[in-house]
Amino acid sequence: ISEIARVKNLNRIQMGKHEVEAWYFSPYPQEYAHLPVLYICEFCLSYFGSQFMLGRHRTRCTLLHPPGNEIYRHEDISFFELDGKRQLTWCRNLSLLSKSFLDHKTLYYDVTPFMYYVMCQRDSHGCHVIGYFSKEKESADNYNVACILTLPQHQRHGYGKLLIEFSYELSKKEGKLGSPEKPLSDLGLLSYRAYWGETIIELLVNTTEDLSIDDIAQKTSITHADVMNTCTTLQLFKHYKGQHVICLSDSILERYEKSKAKRKRRIHPEYLIWKPPV
Ligand code: COA
Ligand code: NA
Repeated sequence: ISEIARVKNLNRIQMGKHEVEAWYFSPYPQEYAHLPVLYICEFCLSYFGSQFMLGRHRTRCTLLHPPGNEIYRHEDISFFELDGKRQLTWCRNLSLLSKSFLDHKTLYYDVTPFMYYVMCQRDSHGCHVIGYFSKEKESADNYNVACILTLPQHQRHGYGKLLIEFSYELSKKEGKLGSPEKPLSDLGLLSYRAYWGETIIELLVNTTEDLSIDDIAQKTSITHADVMNTCTTLQLFKHYKGQHVICLSDSILERYEKSKAKRKRRIHPEYLIWKPPV
């Protein structure tokens, strides 16, 4: 189905205590489109046409976190691993919701080939979804992320980088290099470029011996192509005595220190309890 030509069919979306504007078309059933507000249960992601219907549902809904296994918990951040086949309804609801913010040529109506890694913030009420990424169970191209999304009400707080960092921690556990599925959106590319740059520079700053492109790739699980592109974009390659070397200029280091100071939240791999699904 071609969706590119499809007109945005949703207005506002309410979830938990947030209400946001939808960005793009999403294939919610016809009777839910074009309402002033679509109401989402923030725990099971079911959708309702009115506050009243949502309220009635809330008295019955017992879910307090995404179904599936909690594979990471540190401070107030938890990650849940869901199988699109086993947690079909929840993953379909997540896909519908996330399509409202994704202008992708390919939306996966079929959620069964994917695993879903859902990042939540825990408080006394439950685990609130902040964002997620999906990942093909078998990727012929070694993609480690299919779709990635931070819910709009939580964007620009560093959660996108946290999701990306988590996706590379999974790749490290798999002993593989990974890259996100192309094409990336503009916001996706900006976030990945920022993550790749900071990760590579952080590694160089904290390493005393010389590192080759392959060393960087193996230590970060970032593919050679993404390492090369990042170093080229940041102009890190210099000629020195007839060789290509990576050189961190003062301005690069200054920018890195600034972004590091801003980046309060990080993934702590020791709290990731996970084996690649078989
Ligand atoms: N304008 C400029 N730069 C932006 C930006 C924006 N609106 N959003 C992100 N960036 C860049 C910045 O460099 C930022 O780092 P900084 O804040 O330290 O400068 C970096 O990306 C990461 O920002 P972060 O706050 O960690 O990301 P996020 O939580 O906002 O999530 C996305 C990033 C891509 C997941 C989010 O924008 C999103 O869900 N977009 C819609 C879905 C999508 O397009 N997904 C990718 C394709 S599958
Ligand atoms: Na999806």
